[in-house]
Amino acid sequence: MKAIELRNKYLNFFKSKGHSIIPSSPLVPENDPSVLFTTAGMHPLVPYLLGEVHPAGKRLTDYQKCLRTDDIEEVGDTGHLTYFEMMGNWSLGDYFKKESINYSYEFLTKELNIPVEKISVTCFEGDSDCQKDTESAEIWESLGIPKSRIYYFGKKENWWGPAGTHGPCGPDTEIFYDTGKEKCSEECNPSCNCGKYLEIWNNVFMQYNKTLDGKYEELKQKNVDTGLGLERTTMVLQGKSSVFEIEIFKPIMDKLDELSIVKNEKSFRIIAEHLRASIMLIADGVKPSNIEQGYILRRLIRRIIRHLKNVGINANLIKDLLVLNIDILKDMYPELVKKQEEILLVVEAEKEKFTKTLENGEKEFLKALNRAKSEGKTTIDGATVFKLYETYGFPPEITEELAKENDVKLDLKEYEVLYKKHQEKSRQGAEQKFKGGLAERNEETISYHTATHLLHKALRMVLGEHVAQKGSNITVERLRFDFSHPAKVTEEELKKVEQIVNEQIEKKLDVVCEEMSIEDAKKSGAIGLFENKYGDIVKVYTIGDFSKEICGGPHVKNTGELGKFVIKKEEASSAGVRRIKAVLTNN
Ligand code: SER
Repeated sequence: MKAIELRNKYLNFFKSKGHSIIPSSPLVPENDPSVLFTTAGMHPLVPYLLGEVHPAGKRLTDYQKCLRTDDIEEVGDTGHLTYFEMMGNWSLGDYFKKESINYSYEFLTKELNIPVEKISVTCFEGDSDCQKDTESAEIWESLGIPKSRIYYFGKKENWWGPAGTHGPCGPDTEIFYDTGKEKCSEECNPSCNCGKYLEIWNNVFMQYNKTLDGKYEELKQKNVDTGLGLERTTMVLQGKSSVFEIEIFKPIMDKLDELSIVKNEKSFRIIAEHLRASIMLIADGVKPSNIEQGYILRRLIRRIIRHLKNVGINANLIKDLLVLNIDILKDMYPELVKKQEEILLVVEAEKEKFTKTLENGEKEFLKALNRAKSEGKTTIDGATVFKLYETYGFPPEITEELAKENDVKLDLKEYEVLYKKHQEKSRQGAEQKFKGGLAERNEETISYHTATHLLHKALRMVLGEHVAQKGSNITVERLRFDFSHPAKVTEEELKKVEQIVNEQIEKKLDVVCEEMSIEDAKKSGAIGLFENKYGDIVKVYTIGDFSKEICGGPHVKNTGELGKFVIKKEEASSAGVRRIKAVLTNN
């Protein structure tokens, strides 16, 4: 069965069970700034899981385009994908565990003819937030899954959500396919990732809402949210052991094999996976850039080019690969045909940029190589590796490849030291920048600092998401905020911004600080400076559910402390950058 056939079978099955088929939402969430991408089918449905009425009813089904960037580095093995399609069915306060499990069982064993013996399941073992899910286990048993194939696990395995920092979540029961491989040990079970058990479906019983302060509240309605991985299930049904062997990827893999000089399966997979993900992202309006979604796209395209180089394929052939890939995908996504030209242009431009970077970096490397040789050294110093990273955007692994080709070593220890120093400096720099005039930390300046976050968000709401902080300066008397925007901000827009900020002040919103990695901060939808640094811990300040920003602080505890916000002046600061001065008054 092809992926598209599985997709249609799934939708029709759930339609026959009274579900309305709804369209996939775009990859970039429309109304949820808490994550960069749609990462699950439930994502666009959050308001309805929380109780809003869905126009299509209480039983829904769809396929959802998803992108997960958590394990970009894992792509290249048999199963990891950044872009994937999630099939889903939902009950919005309608049916619950019994029907949900029965539907899944019927679909897998009757529609897909998967033998019952191939199925194992897991259920939630219970903790202080939620009791053990014996109910699901009993339903599975009643359907003929023996106790020996029903496993219990804790939150790490059998709890899903929320998708961002807060929102609907709950215990789940997961369905695994036994690939027939030998158990890797006595204890081997579905939580083991040796490849014997493949998770194909996840049925979440969403009955909680996790609040911003980490509490689990019972939801008004009990929902079901399920997700079935389309590519992975197709692979299982076709008896393949890698998703790259199914028809979505196979022709690209074959083409890469034909064009390449070096046969490297892992590089082929990375190229094939990232090509599809890039196509889907560009089709949904993402452009390469240095921040947020655009940065992920940039990374994907650059990785494609590096791996093409790895296997000896001329990067100019990327165009042919894209055309072939769009042709493969067009049955599943007819909208790609119209977007083909744009996709080719965007990738081409990024390729040009990166090729130049690669060339300049290589020249720099060769200079360093010759220097080292003339001094009789067999190691290139860490400062060069660092310069290549900082100035030419060469991740150390590219430099390592070059070193290997040229038979020299790199002083990676020295590089690490320099890199850490740089991280620390840019972190302090970022904090400094955000601090503005906060050298004197008193009540006024702290209030202005929080007001700046409210202003930043309000500007993005009124003028658009292109608004980004370009500078901030705070004194005890006023705040000054510079931001990107191509035109003068009108009187009316300023009024709106002022009004939005004052509303948040009147709402007396709590200001909460959390520490997290820059990756998590990005994922949580925080705005702020995302430089090319990973693994760094940053502070994220959240103001109610209004604003979320990376920032060094400090801030007031509650917006109620701020007084009234008044914009005094709006003017040009430099090309494409506007400046606002504003005050807080006591009435
Ligand atoms: N939200 C759950 C998941 O992502 C089920 O759809 O697995």
